[in-house]
Amino acid sequence: MYKTYTPQIPASEPQRQYYLMEKLKAGLEERERQLGRPLTACVVTFGCQMNARDSEKLAGILEQIGYRLTESEDADFVIFNTCTVRENANLRVYGRLGQLKNKKAKNPQMLIAICGCMMQEEKEVEKIRSSFRHVDLIFGTHNIYRLAELIDQRISSGKTVVDVWDKEKGIVEDLPSERKYFFKSGVNIMFGCNNFCSYCIVPYVRGRERSREPKDIIREIERDAADGVVEVMLLGQNVNSYGKTLDQPLTFAQLLQQIEQIDGIERIRFMTSHPKDLSQELIDTMAGSKKICPHMHLPLQSGSSRILKMMNRHYTKESYLDLVRRLRNACPDISITTDIIVGFPGETEEDFQETLEVVDRVGYDSAYTFIYSPRSGTPAASYEDQIPDDVVHDRFDRLLALVQKKSAQAVSRFAGQTLPVLVESINDHDPSLVTGRLGSNILVHFPGKASMIGKIVNVHLQECKGFYYLGTAE
Ligand code: 5AD
Ligand code: SF4
Repeated sequence: MYKTYTPQIPASEPQRQYYLMEKLKAGLEERERQLGRPLTACVVTFGCQMNARDSEKLAGILEQIGYRLTESEDADFVIFNTCTVRENANLRVYGRLGQLKNKKAKNPQMLIAICGCMMQEEKEVEKIRSSFRHVDLIFGTHNIYRLAELIDQRISSGKTVVDVWDKEKGIVEDLPSERKYFFKSGVNIMFGCNNFCSYCIVPYVRGRERSREPKDIIREIERDAADGVVEVMLLGQNVNSYGKTLDQPLTFAQLLQQIEQIDGIERIRFMTSHPKDLSQELIDTMAGSKKICPHMHLPLQSGSSRILKMMNRHYTKESYLDLVRRLRNACPDISITTDIIVGFPGETEEDFQETLEVVDRVGYDSAYTFIYSPRSGTPAASYEDQIPDDVVHDRFDRLLALVQKKSAQAVSRFAGQTLPVLVESINDHDPSLVTGRLGSNILVHFPGKASMIGKIVNVHLQECKGFYYLGTAE
């Protein structure tokens, strides 16, 4: 009697996923032989930098399985990594998902997956299951590392796979990932959020705050540096509270000091900072650093202390302005950018005037302005006194006008200087130009060639064009 050999699927991670990737790869190669063409995969990202980083991990797994990555949605595997922070983000996803139905009709073996923040909401999953039956895989934010396993289940069962976890489990390290740029990388330093700002859905869809071990972060950045990365962006919903949940607590500033030691890394960025947790230790570390970029994204949300209280933000207009003052004292040329929400429930014209006043006093280099969008399940969605659309739009327009005026003034402060620019790409509109960023994150276009991409070049900033510069390499 022969025994059939059934290899044991590893139970521990990430070995289990690597095993399944190999298994899928064999099946995919067979399929490619039958079809006589390569199979392609497309990852579409909605939303923030966290999602962009998750998409790199999804792309890494798909590539390991053997798919050729493409930007086109005419692919054999298409995955939408969704955002739900505001209602209009959801509407965009449904529009695009509808269009995939025709593509699948033409390519019946196409697999369609949807994952990310939107899928952590039960009503959205129900909507996909009932109205978008061409979707093959549905999963959330906590189990993206299991993509190979979910594809395997879909193939062996022939049925739609829905796997949304309501809670985060441990952090799985060392999965593949496909970096979008060879010279810069996003590095998660923590996941989730514990702040429960009253308008925000993120803590519900991304789970509780967890920090990665410093040694894992350092190892990832060392590997990136060995691969030619010169700029890292440290990612977390609230990087200023990094390390508090570790067995051996470490502050964010201490983590930065360790990253500063890594050879090859020339620029360190991070986002997002919550004003309530921004320490003097961090300010001092930035002031003393050669690598940390002089840029602070510091969401204001509202300039009214009364509204900030209702938002559960734990700072006031005065303490925010004091923080800005201390940042500028320590780092005089620092760029400060922000997020602002207009039309939070109960916002009066006086409250809104306070927001305008803070914008005027700080002089942000740039500001993302948002119209308040009620998210079901968040406290603010059930607050009385939601603001009528016409009032919100009028305030939004006035805010935008001030933001643009102040930002053009702020950005122009570098005119005539020569500063280092990390070149990122050939200019979209004029191929004789390249486009890069200053340490302060301001865009610069100047005559150059593709070989400059990924290099830091000194550029004379000749002309300020509002939010960007035209310059020449020195
Ligand atoms: N409505 C409008 N804007 C929001 N943001 C978060 N939640 C909402 C909401 N419900 C904004 C905040 C945050 C940014 C990422 O998105 O300004 O900083
Ligand atoms: Fe949302 Fe506030 Fe957490 Fe940012 S800090 S993700 S705005 S709850």
